[in-house]
Amino acid sequence: MTDLQLQEIKEWFECYVGTFASGDGSFHSPLQLKVDHSKRVADNAQQLAEDLGWNPSEINRAEALGWLHDVGRFSQFAEFGTFTDATSVNHGERGWEIVRETGILSPLKPEEQNALLEGIRYHNAKAEPDHLNEESLRFLKLIRDADKLDLFHFVLTSIQKDGFRDLPDMLPQVVLNGPVNPKVIHEIQTRRTCSITEVRSLSDFLLMQLSWIYDLNYSASFRQIIDRNIIDDLERELPGDRRIGQIIQAVSRFAKHNRIPE
Ligand SMILES: [Fe+2]
Repeated sequence: MTDLQLQEIKEWFECYVGTFASGDGSFHSPLQLKVDHSKRVADNAQQLAEDLGWNPSEINRAEALGWLHDVGRFSQFAEFGTFTDATSVNHGERGWEIVRETGILSPLKPEEQNALLEGIRYHNAKAEPDHLNEESLRFLKLIRDADKLDLFHFVLTSIQKDGFRDLPDMLPQVVLNGPVNPKVIHEIQTRRTCSITEVRSLSDFLLMQLSWIYDLNYSASFRQIIDRNIIDDLERELPGDRRIGQIIQAVSRFAKHNRIPE
């Protein structure tokens, strides 16, 4: 993908999301969050692709996927007033339909189009589907990592801002200062990604986030986890008991072991 093609995709994104802005050009705050998120995920994807030594065309494609991955969020919110896929629409599928129908990707080579479309479609899937070709899978794994890296950023800034007061609105079963659910502890101890259905407190939510580190794909992503001090920042917000201390140590060891060398 050339620099010009990337530029055209960014311009299309701005134009498309602009159709969801109010008369004065500003966004309703949940949509502004998604605009900011898309930009940061594009930056993360570009950075990871660069750190992994991908070629300039692949780095551009990674960045484009960052811009486009959540494009389904805008019509989802306009139509249903929520970002909860379970009660509205799968936003990955929705974004895939939108981008396919616009024809914005048609100047690209077929394999480039496929990697972008499948990256958008499956970025939020529970697991990566096994029918994808290697090329598409490479980009899908990258966008899933870039997206997770930004969610760490989002959660930690929300805690610093106001103790993540919005969390119970996003997940009605959550009580901010509730205890840790032993099932969540068990899942992360067995290196499984914690289930959102077991999350009952802010601590559970942070442990679930910590468990995503086991699900990252690329050495460059582990490097970002370490360079951005994400594990230490999460630890500071968690209760200081022995079991949690052991979990933090295990996750830290895993990240250090898998990171890209300096
Ligand atoms: Fe998403």
